[in-house]
Amino acid sequence: MRIRVSPGDGSDRVLRVPGDKSIAHRWLILAATARGPSRLAEVPPSLDVRSTASCLSRVTLKARPALDLWVVNASSWVEGGGSTWNGTSRERSIGPLEVEGEGRDGLIESGVDLDCGNSGTSMRLLAGLLSSARFPSRLVGDESLSSRPMERVAAPLRRMGAEIETTEGHAPLVVSGGALRGVEHRLDVPTAQVKGAILLAGLAADGETIVTEPVATRDHTERALLALGAPVRREPTAVAVTRFQHEGFEASVPGDVSSAAFLVGAAALEGRALRIEGVGLNPSRTRFLDVLSRMGVETETAVTGEQLGEPVGRIEVRPGTELRGTTIDEEELPRVIDEVPLLAVLAAHARGESWFLGAQELRVKETDRLSLLAEGIRSLGGHAAAEADDLVVAGAGLRGGAAEAGGDHRLAMAFAVAGAAAEGPCEVDGMEAAEVSFPGFVEALRAAGVGVEVVA
Ligand code: S3P
Repeated sequence: MRIRVSPGDGSDRVLRVPGDKSIAHRWLILAATARGPSRLAEVPPSLDVRSTASCLSRVTLKARPALDLWVVNASSWVEGGGSTWNGTSRERSIGPLEVEGEGRDGLIESGVDLDCGNSGTSMRLLAGLLSSARFPSRLVGDESLSSRPMERVAAPLRRMGAEIETTEGHAPLVVSGGALRGVEHRLDVPTAQVKGAILLAGLAADGETIVTEPVATRDHTERALLALGAPVRREPTAVAVTRFQHEGFEASVPGDVSSAAFLVGAAALEGRALRIEGVGLNPSRTRFLDVLSRMGVETETAVTGEQLGEPVGRIEVRPGTELRGTTIDEEELPRVIDEVPLLAVLAAHARGESWFLGAQELRVKETDRLSLLAEGIRSLGGHAAAEADDLVVAGAGLRGGAAEAGGDHRLAMAFAVAGAAAEGPCEVDGMEAAEVSFPGFVEALRAAGVGVEVVA
């Protein structure tokens, strides 16, 4: 899908965003492996989340019909045009997922490959889950996922006692689970996917499993386990878990703050007020708001409740700001890892240069985001360069042009937002990639007031 973006009509809006992808992966796994029935509402129909649900369906018996039905409903909902996410109700939203879990011991051998599609989180978390299952599973992914590093998750799981074969460090992965023992693992690369995989394995291990993280990453797994009553011990730079089997639960997934970020960014570019309701406000995910504040964008958050052990509330963007450049250093970067594409396009519209330092992890995301971001900003008529591990963006504004998403959802959405304040029209090719994390994004951007036309 190719879209043409131009500045919008300037009126203020209230929006909602689909459920959080990161949180949904974890709670889907927990629902499918709970003992007893669970009811999970607002699971986003994102392609990545559908990948996790389909894989879980292949390794469960009682949960399978509900998971399969949810995947079918989610796919047809997205193909049918999705929702507008505006106002306070979600039109045609998919019903809750009601599954019957048989506990981790109820998992069964699939006999077919588990296809994780484009989703690194699915592959890494499922590798952790299946490390204790006494049968082999083969995890495969698309071309992009098959080029991403998997030794970082395989190595600690092997130390815990699982047999894991990678394909020269990549997918396909063959996980042959068995009796696990707790280990202490230090995350050299800050990654919540690997932390989550080890903690899920730790639920089935003898002794204590400890993950230490010199740089804090998102803490959805530990929050989920605590919410379910698991024996989790949290310290400032470590988290530990011991064997635990959870029961079924009822819950609702909060809105995805990383999706909200794109709408916040569009409002900031147009100098317009915006309110997003029902969004997750976990502090390990909201650092981009501090970066925006340094760039001159005033926002306010209010926590109004808690869902799944996560704070939930609203984000308000104040109108009328002029953007200025900023520097994101090595330490801050992991805390805005998914928002770098958005922040980079905002930086292209800011006064002064912006630097993203120590951003090498972006080279092993769904694409080499560092290079493709610089290229995309240049093809939209701006100035940016990726040099070794850093990205520098000159705040010279964007003249307009055409960018290619390269199959990367966050690049597609960032380039689309970039067009909200460009001098000339911006076209983005490959917009369908947004479905990976934000189904209905094009309509949501329109609902946020940006001029969007589908051209092909
Ligand atoms: C995720 C963690 C992050 C993030 C990804 C989702 C998760 O990846 O980029 O979109 O759900 O754990 P890393 O942990 O590999 O940085």
